[in-house]
Amino acid sequence: MSFCRSARAGGRAALGSNGNYNVRHVASDHGALLDSSHRRLGRNPLEIDMKNNYASALSASERVAWKLDDVFNQDAVLDFSQPFLPETLVDSAPLTWLSATERRTLNQIRAHGYLSIFGLVEEFILPFVMQRLQARASAEMPERRALLGFAAEEAKHIELFQRFKTVFRKGFGHACDVMGPASDIQAHVLAHSELSVGLLVLHIEWMTQWHYVEMVRDDGELEPNFRRLLHEHWKEESQHARIDGFIVEALAEAATEQERERAFREYLSLLAFLDAGLKQQVVFDRSAFERATRRALSDAEAAQFMRVQQQAQRRTYLGSGVNHPQLRATVERIYPQGARALRESSELYG
Ligand SMILES: [Fe+2]
Ligand SMILES: [Fe+2]
Repeated sequence: MSFCRSARAGGRAALGSNGNYNVRHVASDHGALLDSSHRRLGRNPLEIDMKNNYASALSASERVAWKLDDVFNQDAVLDFSQPFLPETLVDSAPLTWLSATERRTLNQIRAHGYLSIFGLVEEFILPFVMQRLQARASAEMPERRALLGFAAEEAKHIELFQRFKTVFRKGFGHACDVMGPASDIQAHVLAHSELSVGLLVLHIEWMTQWHYVEMVRDDGELEPNFRRLLHEHWKEESQHARIDGFIVEALAEAATEQERERAFREYLSLLAFLDAGLKQQVVFDRSAFERATRRALSDAEAAQFMRVQQQAQRRTYLGSGVNHPQLRATVERIYPQGARALRESSELYG
């Protein structure tokens, strides 16, 4: 595929001395804990009563469900005098030559990219969940209803992000290109084994939890409509992390050791694939920044912009997943030999 078509640390997470995020929470407010002492398949407490777990996830989903029009109306007005994303994700501070206004412009470009990339990944999460539903056509009703709800919510989120992008572009006034196209990314990802895609989806779901709980929730300086949108998205996503965890557990249980190893390797290759897309995204972000600020970066500024922003993108989408304790606990259990490769990925992606 190609990635060339169009198109303040106010939270509790902080960059550590090694450049990695320090993680202090181990599960979402609604998330199911995985006991890392259960390293062998067959001893996972989630297997004890899968039916009740699905029923519990389903009822939690129904309690927090919302309607699209109640969360983000097409007539919404965004306040462009405020930052949208936490500085921990944007990492504009090293670019000391930015004025305060330029820093905010970069923040808003990154926020547009943030939700656009969520929309892109949800385009492959949706068919992944629907395929699982089809494969589980004779499962107990709570499982089928939980999968149906998961898929319906992701479809709604894709539309939510589209609405946001339309409103954003109108108010921002400059084009912001996004990596893709989504159909190419979807086709590439779904060509891999179901277990590897399940791991990637788990990575994304826990990453989403981490960003909101640790970085967005307590940051009162963010644009209120954007922050509320992330809050509502997070509420429904909380159950996705649980449900995808059940899917991964079931797929791993049915796989041979060789299949689990292959799936883990494929998961790493999918991270590298997304990393190439993120590199392209930084090129798009630089162009959008120059258009919006009417400023041409010098060679030295452009080189620093590319280096700092590429690492910020990596930390946001890749490091936040490979460093997440829940993702690591799952890998430890289904493919313990993968721990070293995860540590190496953590070094690369921050
Ligand atoms: Fe979502
Ligand atoms: Fe999700």
